[in-house]
Amino acid sequence: MAPKLAISALLLLLVIIQALFVKSEPQISKSLGLLEGARKGYTFEGLNQVKQYLKAFGYYSINGSSLTDSFDDVLESALKSYQQHYRLKVTGRIDSNTLKKMSTPRCGVQDIFNDSNDDVKFSMIANYSFFNGMPRWNKRQLTYMFRSSAFVISDQQLRPIITRALNKWAVVSNFAFREANPSDIVMGFHRGFHGDNYPFDGPGNVLAHAFAPRDGRLHYDADENWSTNNAIRQNQFDLESVAIHEIGHILGLGHSQDPNAIMYAYISPGNTKRNLGRDDIDGIRALYSN
Ligand SMILES: *[C@@H]1O[C@H](CO)[C@@H](O)[C@H](O)[C@H]1NC(C)=O
Ligand SMILES: *[C@@H]1O[C@H](CO)[C@@H](O)[C@H](O)[C@H]1NC(C)=O
Ligand SMILES: *[C@@H]1O[C@H](CO)[C@@H](O)[C@H](O)[C@H]1NC(C)=O
Ligand SMILES: *[C@@H]1O[C@H](CO)[C@@H](O)[C@H](O)[C@H]1NC(C)=O
Ligand SMILES: [Zn+2]
Ligand SMILES: [Zn+2]
Repeated sequence: MAPKLAISALLLLLVIIQALFVKSEPQISKSLGLLEGARKGYTFEGLNQVKQYLKAFGYYSINGSSLTDSFDDVLESALKSYQQHYRLKVTGRIDSNTLKKMSTPRCGVQDIFNDSNDDVKFSMIANYSFFNGMPRWNKRQLTYMFRSSAFVISDQQLRPIITRALNKWAVVSNFAFREANPSDIVMGFHRGFHGDNYPFDGPGNVLAHAFAPRDGRLHYDADENWSTNNAIRQNQFDLESVAIHEIGHILGLGHSQDPNAIMYAYISPGNTKRNLGRDDIDGIRALYSN
């Protein structure tokens, strides 16, 4: 089964939303102004990038051929399910809170895996989720190793961070982890196209991704400014926080709708989130309960 990951083709959206981050001047770009408030029945230049964003994260199922700039029923319903998923006001329009959410950096793994999933029903049961078909490991002793195609930090620097991240999961589950070569899990830094059909997108937006069991690949975007200690700066992303999240995918968890969960898809620069939430623990225990 080919795990579905997000395709990070968000260049124009990035350009549009970049205005929000550039310097401190709150200068809303012309194109952003045009997209904000966009609603059904009209055509807006650049709208196809919103469609691509929603498609990449599993909200928009139809073909690339229909990714035009016209605001149609499919986009409206995709926006509604995105808004519902992130507990935004369900307007079916590109309002400012929706744009703000979409401009927050996030994990590249998609949120919704199966179109036939009854998202509403599922979210009433739990915030956590699994990949399609609930793939799991058939053993609890997993090995890992580091392999990068881009240099960001040394293995010596990476090792204690990953050890701590793995341990977060080990203490709430039956998993144990050990460094070895070859290994079940292979983690490292990569930039742009790196051989798995999910190219990274430069600084911001998609920060990392990982594959469902029993694939074991975990990739960090080498173009991010990663923080490797406790002195994180406003423009940096915490490597350990993101590691804990991606290891959750490696073990079989999808994204959680609970903003307090490690498995929540979005993380803001300058933030650390290094403790599993109740929802993460419930999720891993539910997946491996028998
Ligand atoms: C996708 O587009 C291709 C060509 O435009 C078409 O043949 C195919 O049926 C479409 N698939 C879906 C699921 O709409
Ligand atoms: C959705 O999940 C079901 C059950 O796991 C599977 O049979 C079906 O192929 C999936 N559909 C898609 C589009 O992945
Ligand atoms: C990363 O951020 C730090 C702190 O703001 C800064 O000093 C450093 O130059 C940045 N590194 C890169 C590669 O942008
Ligand atoms: C899901 O997360 C929300 C937000 O943290 C919380 O209020 C709600 O109780 C959670 N639902 C379940 C079923 O855990
Ligand atoms: Zn993720
Ligand atoms: Zn990758």
